[in-house]
Amino acid sequence: MDKIAYFVQKSNTNATAVAIFGAIGAVVVAAKALSFLKVLVDVFLRSGINVKKYDAGNGGWAVITGASDGIGKEFAFQLASKKLNIVLVSRTESKLKVLAEELEQKYNIETKVHAMDFAKGDDKDYQALQALVAPINVTVLVNNVGTNHEIPTPFEQETDKIVKDIVEININAAMKVTKIIVPHMVARKKGLIINLGSFAGLVPTPYLSVYSGSKAFLSSWSQAIGAELAPKGITVQNVNTYFVVSAMSKIRRATMLIPMPKPYVRSVLGQIGISGGASTPYTSTPFYSHAIANWLIDNTFGRAFWVKQNYNIQVDIRKRALRKREREAAAAAKSQ
Ligand SMILES: NC(=O)c1ccc[n+]([C@@H]2O[C@H](COP(=O)([O-])OP(=O)(O)OC[C@H]3O[C@@H](n4cnc5c(N)ncnc54)[C@H](OP(=O)(O)O)[C@@H]3O)[C@@H](O)[C@H]2O)c1
Repeated sequence: MDKIAYFVQKSNTNATAVAIFGAIGAVVVAAKALSFLKVLVDVFLRSGINVKKYDAGNGGWAVITGASDGIGKEFAFQLASKKLNIVLVSRTESKLKVLAEELEQKYNIETKVHAMDFAKGDDKDYQALQALVAPINVTVLVNNVGTNHEIPTPFEQETDKIVKDIVEININAAMKVTKIIVPHMVARKKGLIINLGSFAGLVPTPYLSVYSGSKAFLSSWSQAIGAELAPKGITVQNVNTYFVVSAMSKIRRATMLIPMPKPYVRSVLGQIGISGGASTPYTSTPFYSHAIANWLIDNTFGRAFWVKQNYNIQVDIRKRALRKREREAAAAAKSQ
């Protein structure tokens, strides 16, 4: 009799344990499903803060770094189309002037251009930018300028110049330009700062270690200043970007995962203040396929798995890039 009671009690205990673990499992699965649903709602249904709020058509200006090409150029077109005046900053003055003229004619706005090489980190260039923006009402800043390793390279083999350029352009330029612009925004209690982040900042990327670290800096710094500036009426948004067709990405054809700059920037400007696929504050992953990828990275397999995936991808890209260099060197030697 005692034995039967023992087995009845044991099977009751097992049933209770199964029920408890089942309930916990159901809660975890439901929480994951809900967070995924939120991503879909964010990217397909919600609209963010209207950029027109930033004095568009009413004397407001946007400053865009790295404005002459790729994603930065597209920001210039889309912000100008919303009637913001534009300050275009990048290295090549001739490209900036042509773009400025096109924007003025197409959208009937004002423009200013400032040519500087951010890699030089020259104080005089920053002072000139400060003087340029002092008399105008800058309400939007797009910290877009960025540079990358030429090819995936082990850290100890990377040139000092590339390491220095990445730090100067991707980190220092964002901080220095923001320091120039933010006091004006604080004084007017209005502003939007968009920082061009990367999935390389979300998941450490072996062989692109300095670029990856620079984007991780941008992510952390954006979250910190985002919290500082929110009570002062300024929205900071680090934008997690996977690949976009551009000179930097060296990708020429768009796919579902790799948009052209136009739809990409449309998604960024359509979701100001909305996180999309991002799970960190003051951050957005607005493009739908990037948002789903961001959710998968945050919710499946664990970070070590994704770092290893990045490692395998970069090893493969490096092999192909080295083979291409060899072919080009052989062709050049032949033509001499
Ligand atoms: N494309 C992607 O797949 C991707 C993915 C993740 C993140 N992002 C980020 O998005 C941002 C824009 O990238 P993108 O792909 O649009 O690049 P891009 O097409 O190569 O354009 C870069 C822009 O920056 C300017 N620039 C480059 N070096 C400069 C320097 N030293 N000083 C001043 N201006 C400089 C270039 O103009 P000039 O050459 O005329 O100076 C150009 O206007 C970067 O921060 C990048 O890290 C891009």
